Amino acid sequence: MTEERATEIPNPCLFVLFGGTGDLAKRKLIPALYDLFRAGELSPRFAVVATGRSPLGDEGYHALAKASLDEFSRKKPDEESWKAFSSMLSYHVLDFSSPDADYTGLRDCLETIDGRRGTAGNRIFFLATAPEFFGRSVKALKANGLLDNQGPWQRVMVEKPFGTSLATARELNKEILTALPEENVYRIDHYLGKEMVQNITAIRFGNAIFEPIWNHRHIECIQVQSTETLGIGTRGDYYEQSGILKDMLQNHILQMLALTCMEPPVDLSPGEVQLEKIRVLSALRPFRGGDEESLVVGQYGPGMVDGQPVAGYRSEPRTAKDSTTPTFIALKAHIDSPRWQGVPIYIRAGKRLDRMVSEISIRFRQVPGVPCYSEFAEAHPDVLVIRIQPGEGIYFHMNAKKPGKGFQIETVELDYCQASRYTDNTPESYERLIFEAIQGNPAFFTGWDELERSWRYIESIERVLAARPTVYPNYAAGTAGPVAAEALVRADGRTWWKEAGE
Ligand code: BG6
Repeated sequence: MTEERATEIPNPCLFVLFGGTGDLAKRKLIPALYDLFRAGELSPRFAVVATGRSPLGDEGYHALAKASLDEFSRKKPDEESWKAFSSMLSYHVLDFSSPDADYTGLRDCLETIDGRRGTAGNRIFFLATAPEFFGRSVKALKANGLLDNQGPWQRVMVEKPFGTSLATARELNKEILTALPEENVYRIDHYLGKEMVQNITAIRFGNAIFEPIWNHRHIECIQVQSTETLGIGTRGDYYEQSGILKDMLQNHILQMLALTCMEPPVDLSPGEVQLEKIRVLSALRPFRGGDEESLVVGQYGPGMVDGQPVAGYRSEPRTAKDSTTPTFIALKAHIDSPRWQGVPIYIRAGKRLDRMVSEISIRFRQVPGVPCYSEFAEAHPDVLVIRIQPGEGIYFHMNAKKPGKGFQIETVELDYCQASRYTDNTPESYERLIFEAIQGNPAFFTGWDELERSWRYIESIERVLAARPTVYPNYAAGTAGPVAAEALVRADGRTWWKEAGE
């Protein structure tokens, strides 16, 4: 059952899930809601209405939700807690893809549940549908009086991708902002809900040993890597449209980069942090013709992952046999600001690679003068690694004297593993995001101006790639990616950061 809490969680709310039978709902959202419920972080006056096109009924939906929890929840539900959780979960058929979708029926249903559960008219509409329905759904909600924000509040959480280009993102944004004010729009980038992504700010600004040297005088290069062993699974339709640029780079990676490279904000309020992130994204040097050397894309062919043969991208369900969608990207970015002059930022992301890791590594310059000590000839530059996943933590790679006679330098590691200190798992990112949206905290969401800047940067990359088509597939699944990605860093005398022994 729900753990005891001293004070009641405020903000009664009715959580309306569009795309309630979809993959995201099953894998992430239902487990996140359940984990929040178990942790006692939902108001007792809370309810969920899942909507979808299938004629499931409450009972059918409960079966789907239970299966999702059995497979994906951190704690499997016992009978008592499942009974309590399912009692606040209902299902309503709504064909949001149809122009004639019955929103009056939805409104009646929500009002009935408001009355029954005391949810007070406060609502979150979570759009986890195919992106082409985002704008239409918001418009219809508004037209049917479901987004009036008169008294009780109504908020909309929008999944990614937010648009497919700068133009379509602008259009979608306009459509949404016609229906409700910016402060009621929560654009999701689930990486912002990750514990170690939030920790970037604490590590940077909370430590006298880092903040004063966080600049081009002391940092030689930065790497942001997010690699996966998974392929695209059954998401061929979506991935063909997005590819790695729009699936990972435009959002998750640029957000990590912005937090790593922003100037210290005036305070840590969402507005001030967002302002600084916007400045970084605006200062990202756009790619131009001639920058081809700094950009590598790839698409996986068949290969072996975890000892098992796996298909190439073009043989995955719902992809084109001659698809030119990239599943890998490596690039060298630059931020044209006084702080980051001359510091290359290497980015690498891809599917079906040899390891799953998301991390930011900061490589410091050698201490001036030290190279003249012959004993330091073998010394390595210090490296700070912020490990987002797996194994959240902080790792610092530095030089020290090897014990014993003589004076030999060796590399030692200071390794902080967050999971060993906090044995109770930290919340999943969706759990955090849903909680913050209910509390009305925009800190973990992406503002429009950030999105606009990221789209501009992505489009500059797309233009360069369009002028230089790549022959695919160009890496085997289960490998480190295209050979050219190694060459990209090697040309600068570097390698992709990887811990020794990995
Ligand atoms: C999603 C992408 O946004 O992020 C997926 O659509 C990707 O393709 C996923 O696998 C990665 O998220 P995480 O939390 O597993 O690192």
